[in-house]
This record gives sequence, C-alpha cells and structure tokens, in this order.
Amino acid sequence: MAVLVIGATGFIGPRLIKRLIDRGESVVGMDLNPGAASFSGVPIGAPVVRGDVTQFEDVMRVVLDVKPERLINLAYGLGAGEGNPHQVMRLDILGMDNCFEAARLAGVKRVVYASSIAVSGQQSHFGDRLVNEDDPVHGTSQYAMHKIFNEFQARKYIKNYGMSIIGVRPANVTGPDKVRGSVDHVQIMTDAARGKPVHLPNKGMMRLLVHVDDMAEIFTRILLAEAPRHHLYNSGGLPVSLGELADAVRGFLPDAQITFANEGGREESGNYLVDWSRLAKEFGVEYPGLHTWVLQIINEVRRQEGLAPV
Ligand SMILES: NC(=O)c1ccc[n+]([C@@H]2O[C@H](COP(=O)([O-])OP(=O)(O)OC[C@H]3O[C@@H](n4cnc5c(N)ncnc54)[C@H](O)[C@@H]3O)[C@@H](O)[C@H]2O)c1
Repeated sequence: MAVLVIGATGFIGPRLIKRLIDRGESVVGMDLNPGAASFSGVPIGAPVVRGDVTQFEDVMRVVLDVKPERLINLAYGLGAGEGNPHQVMRLDILGMDNCFEAARLAGVKRVVYASSIAVSGQQSHFGDRLVNEDDPVHGTSQYAMHKIFNEFQARKYIKNYGMSIIGVRPANVTGPDKVRGSVDHVQIMTDAARGKPVHLPNKGMMRLLVHVDDMAEIFTRILLAEAPRHHLYNSGGLPVSLGELADAVRGFLPDAQITFANEGGREESGNYLVDWSRLAKEFGVEYPGLHTWVLQIINEVRRQEGLAPV
C-alpha cells in the first residue's frame, strides 16, 4: 500500500522507511531537508520530496500526488521550543493540524503521529509506580505542551470525523546518530566507542531507553495494522540510570573514561517507569535487553570510524 512519511530524513524516519520497503510497501517521504545523509550512508530507498509541513499547500499537494492509504508525521522541533516559541509552535502544532486536515480531505485511512513520554513530566508526580496512557499529564516544557496539544488535536479529529489516528509516545530513543532531544545516553556509548572521554552532570539521572530500530519497528506495525485497538500507545523501554549505562559500556570497553560531576539526579528525572503492556500485548513488542543495544551501538560507531568491533 502507499505510505507517506512526513519528517522522513531525521533520526527515526529513514529506519521506518527501510522497514516499510522491506515489507513491500510503496513509500514516499516528505521533508524540509530531503537530502540529509543517513548515518550508515545507505540510501533511504524511497523518493523523498521537498515539502514544508507548516505550509498546508505543501502537505495537501504531496498527499494528492501520493494518494497514501497511511500517513505518518514525524516532522517536529525535537528538543527545541524554549528559545524560539513562535517558529516551533508553527512546526509542532500547525504542522500536525495540516497533516490531520489533509488526511481528512483526501480520505487517508490511517494517520500515525509521534507524541512523547515528555507529556508525563517528572516521575516524582507519580511516585514509584508505572505510568500508563490514561494517567494525567504533568509536562511543562513547550515541547511537552505541544505534544499534549497534539494528543488533543488527534482526539478532536477522531471525535468529529471518525478518523483512525494513532499516537505513540516514544521514550528516550537511543542510537548511534542521535543529535536532537536527550543525548546524554547516546554520548556515553558513542564517545566511549570512539575512545573519547565523556563527562556528564548526574550519575543517578534516569532514562527510559528504546533503540531507534525498535522504535521504527513499532511505528511500522501500528501504521500497517488492520485496526489498532487504542488511539495512544506508550513505547516504554528499559529504565536505566546514566551510571548503570556507563557500567554496561565498561563491560565492553573496560578503559572507557566516563565520569560524572554528581552522584544524584534520580529525583529530578523525567518519567521513566512506564506501563507499555498495551503495545506489548497487541503488537507483540519485546526489547532484547540493554547489553544487546549497547553492544550494537558501540559496534555501529566503531564500524563507521574504521575501528575493530568489540
Ligand atoms: N528521538 C527521540 O528520542 C524521540 C522521543 C520522543 C518522541 N520523539 C518524536 O518522534 C518524532 C521523530 O523524531 P526524530 O528523532 O526522528 O526527529 P528528527 O528531528 O531527527 O527528525 C525530524 C525531521 O523533520 C524534518 N522537518 C523539520 N521541520 C520540517 C518542516 N517544516 N517540514 C517538513 N519536515 C520538517 C527534519 O528535517 C527532520 O528530518 C518527533 O515527533 C519527535 O518529537 C522522538
């Protein structure tokens, strides 16, 4: 079937496109920056047209050209917003509205969009318990507020027009080439893989990690599913402190120079205890384990750098 991926050349988009193509789907990407190089240097494998998601005419034109059965919007101001509220509001809020409205007018059968674990805010709001998709949201950053509003926009379009719109709340997505959003966990693995020292503020800071390949697989399954049972899914992931992650890295690279300024950080951590049983049960998602991801990322970076794998 025809699938349109908006925000196609960032961190998650190219991996999603490769998976869709492997399953035999006919994929077209749209991005403001269609020529971005992928980490591994492997071509994306689908045409990517230039288009600005904040311009309704661009989105509508591409939707009418591609006639997708499925559309996913990944275009976003990731890790942005606090310094340039106007520009990011247009991208995150207006961009999402443009996707929903174009999909409505063209009769697209399924729209998927990325929300975020950021909607939940700090773990301390919930105490020491798992947070599910029905819990109240406590995010306060502009990024979190935009994601909360995106979920509202989706509910509105679902209610008013009966559309199939599914949101996914990714946790802290990790991988060798991540440069936007949370990157402390990435640095611990990639700098160590390159033999570079890494120094971070808080050893106890918690992250909920999910590998970018697994994230791409989740989006693939939800996009292609016949009839998802819910409108919102937590990706969940593996909760780990940065100190524990550093220990996992040292298991493969005993000489890694990873240091922290403080022992603490756990109390200030964002939501890291997440109930993702919805996704696990309905889509059969399982994560392989932290050490598998860490080794994979270290060796991907070392391959890129021309270093021997560990
Ligand atoms: N990566 C994570 O850790 C993470 C975690 C939670 C949620 N998410 C969400 O998942 C989605 C994808 O994340 P990602 O890591 O691939 O992001 P990314 O920033 O790597 O990719 C976003 C893509 O959107 C494109 N884009 C930006 N402005 C555009 C515009 N005006 N028109 C068209 N395209 C535009 C960019 O060129 C880029 O290719 C985002 O909504 C993000 O908020 C990501």
